[in-house]
Amino acid sequence: MVIHPIIADPVSEFAEEVCNGLNKPGQKELPSKYLYDEVGSRLFEVICALPEYGLTRADERLLRKHAREIVERVRGEVVVAELGSGSGKKTRWILEALSRHRPTSYYPIEISATALAMCERELADIDAISIVGCEREYLDGLLEVAARRLRGQRLLVLFLGSTIGNFDRPADISFLREMRLILEPGDALLLGTDLEKPVLQLIDAYDDPLGVTAAFNLNLLARINRELDADFVLERYAHAARFNADTRSIEMHISSACDQMVTIKKAGLSVPFQKGETIWTETSHKYSVEEVADMAEHAGFRCDAQWIDHEWPFAENLLIAE
Ligand SMILES: C[S@@+](CC[C@H](N)C(=O)[O-])C[C@H]1O[C@@H](n2cnc3c(N)ncnc32)[C@H](O)[C@@H]1O
Repeated sequence: MVIHPIIADPVSEFAEEVCNGLNKPGQKELPSKYLYDEVGSRLFEVICALPEYGLTRADERLLRKHAREIVERVRGEVVVAELGSGSGKKTRWILEALSRHRPTSYYPIEISATALAMCERELADIDAISIVGCEREYLDGLLEVAARRLRGQRLLVLFLGSTIGNFDRPADISFLREMRLILEPGDALLLGTDLEKPVLQLIDAYDDPLGVTAAFNLNLLARINRELDADFVLERYAHAARFNADTRSIEMHISSACDQMVTIKKAGLSVPFQKGETIWTETSHKYSVEEVADMAEHAGFRCDAQWIDHEWPFAENLLIAE
């Protein structure tokens, strides 16, 4: 079963955001959520398998090793909601641990219909788990799930893969706070956070030699061509990954290889690019272990437990709504 989106006109919303982002004075920007159309969601799965991108394997190692303890710490009858589930592969460990105790409803909340379909296929074989896909933005989806829960049921929200790192500081805390407002005391949030590590290791992870991350990033221009009738010539753009020491984040950009003009018909926009000018498409902030517990506290959660992977520094944080 799928809960369908409520966006009245997705094409004009996309067109408006592209228009605003490319007209921004100074740095051109596009929202990272648009990286995930069908092609983008499939390319992201390949990124997760790349040797340079240790993040997903670290997240999965922690879930595999500690799933039983994690679910035991969340008492009572549980409903699981996952923000930006992607293919849901890692979530299997949590759902299997829960299903040993009781039948459980699982709501993957995704903006990408392709990711949602992958997730439903991936996890369909787990006994005692009923899956209801929710094709919504994070908090709209969470509101929908919260409204469906029965009295006495606890919500366990999963936000894995360090997707929280896509929010700028301190917007990450504001987002956690908004999430907290939807939850009830005693509900739980399992938050995956990628930890600080050497810059070269990070650059390799976001600019792999095979070019998969480059394809993932440039697909955003291809998507604008497909959906908004634009004329980006992809060969005239290049992927770039940069470390920003001030914000402790990796930034993905798309850099223009020459002076050029682009027309985006459905956005009613013609936009000039200078050689070397970039569009900023994604940020991935890196955290310290202590900082995550602090953020949690500022957002109205108590940090109940943290598990750390030392092979690829990454923390799984169990936060309880106060
Ligand atoms: C970085 S991927 C992480 C996927 C998965 N959780 C993992 O750990 O591998 C982010 C996922 O969130 C989804 N997403 C991005 N922005 C979203 C939004 N505003 N609302 C709902 N889903 C979103 C994307 O489609 C994508 O599948």
